[in-house]
Amino acid sequence: YFMGIDLGTSSVKIILMDGEGKIVASSTKEFPIYYPYPNWAEQNPEEWWISTKEGIREILDNTGIKGEDVKSIGLSGQMHGLVMLDKNNNVLDPAILWCDQRTQRECDYLNIEYGRDKLSDYTGNIALTGFTLPKILWIRNNKRQIYDQIAHILLPKDYIRFKLTGEYATDFSDASGMLLLDVKNKRWSYELLKYLNIDEKILPKLYESFECTGYVTKEAAGDTGLLKGTMVVAGAGDQAAAAIGTGVVSGGNASVSLGTSGVVFAALDDFAVDAENRLHSFCHANGKWHVMGVMLSAAASLKWWVEGINSKEESYDYLMEEAEKAAIGSQKLIFLPYLMGERTPYSDPDVRGSFIGLSMTHEKGHMTRAILEGVAYGLKDSLRLIDELGINIDCVRLNGGGAKSRLWRQIIADVFNKKVEIINSTEGPALGAAILASVGYGHYTSVESACEQIIGVTDVIYPIEDNVKEYEKYYEVYKKLYQRLKPTF
Ligand code: XUL
Repeated sequence: YFMGIDLGTSSVKIILMDGEGKIVASSTKEFPIYYPYPNWAEQNPEEWWISTKEGIREILDNTGIKGEDVKSIGLSGQMHGLVMLDKNNNVLDPAILWCDQRTQRECDYLNIEYGRDKLSDYTGNIALTGFTLPKILWIRNNKRQIYDQIAHILLPKDYIRFKLTGEYATDFSDASGMLLLDVKNKRWSYELLKYLNIDEKILPKLYESFECTGYVTKEAAGDTGLLKGTMVVAGAGDQAAAAIGTGVVSGGNASVSLGTSGVVFAALDDFAVDAENRLHSFCHANGKWHVMGVMLSAAASLKWWVEGINSKEESYDYLMEEAEKAAIGSQKLIFLPYLMGERTPYSDPDVRGSFIGLSMTHEKGHMTRAILEGVAYGLKDSLRLIDELGINIDCVRLNGGGAKSRLWRQIIADVFNKKVEIINSTEGPALGAAILASVGYGHYTSVESACEQIIGVTDVIYPIEDNVKEYEKYYEVYKKLYQRLKPTF
């Protein structure tokens, strides 16, 4: 068996995949997010590890599969988060998460004073509030005594690796989101490290996603039930891992993720950057590259609506049924899904969500549908940037929790005017991590051949011409709303 561990933002998901690529067991353990101030989002890395230990134990206990039958482990996780350890490996401060937006000042410093062009030349990207480097500078500017004690910086999933193996390591895909990696040349950007006076020694060692980074220690074996000496491969940031778990590995293949965040992801055979750096240009987990656009609140918008705003009686199923009954365009109601600011294409932490066009005749079904449509319009913004880069996409594969909704699948197909493929697993990142583990172990010869053998298409949704035309009109309106409303936020 091969184990995939995906450290998400609200829970850690652990799966076991057998030698045929079938998922035989899974466990999910939740942990809290802390929002101590508006725009802040933090977690306690110790809580990640407690949940992970419990999850591994549970999955072994429930299946009766023995530690020694797990041949290797792959990691995936929420990207960009900043974990700081002191010289005794104690966590110095809460981890600052990808969705935390406190670093605008540091981003302005990097983009304006240091300069977007140089950043783009050296790293392939510009500074965005979610990325790790601005978080590091924020700690230096605001918590100097913590900064001075930093001996190691890790990304979230790499803290789990450290607890499992004692190694400080990461992979190129996740490292890309730090804004310290020279993505094109796959090395730390010495130019930037030197300019910012950051010591390379505090950074983790870099690996390809399928390479072995170390072995389970005696202590971690005691904590989890795994066998001491089990291989742990580098793994990948959750978006690259999800693409592996969705079979999006060859140049021009694309996926759309309807998770907490929403992502349009295109695999590339060669490194590429769009003119204004609105897309992220990152390393992929198969040794190549990818571009992606990231929306901060995708399924999170629906979750907010269903769980946060509506009463328990108005369940998810009820609201989605009502949404299905509502006509395309939700009776001229448009939802802007900017509940936590937006990353692609605006890079604006201050913009906020809105319903535009409410009238007396609108009901919950219209509002639910407007949310599904608004998220699809926001993702189309990213798709257009990928189009402009000359990457020809004729089909997208869906993953993430939102992909389970039939209605949302059709809305994506119609708004994008693209074929949508549904695959045989919805486990995206955790499956991707397990696949990387199996490749690292030598069970498959390459990531591509593993994906080919494991991932199959189970359903194809085609855009419906009349719907496409209707949505085009609404999207034209949607596109203008951000600029019009910007001054009000
Ligand atoms: C990717 C990103 C998010 C997190 C979510 O750039 O910020 O998708 O990785 O887990």
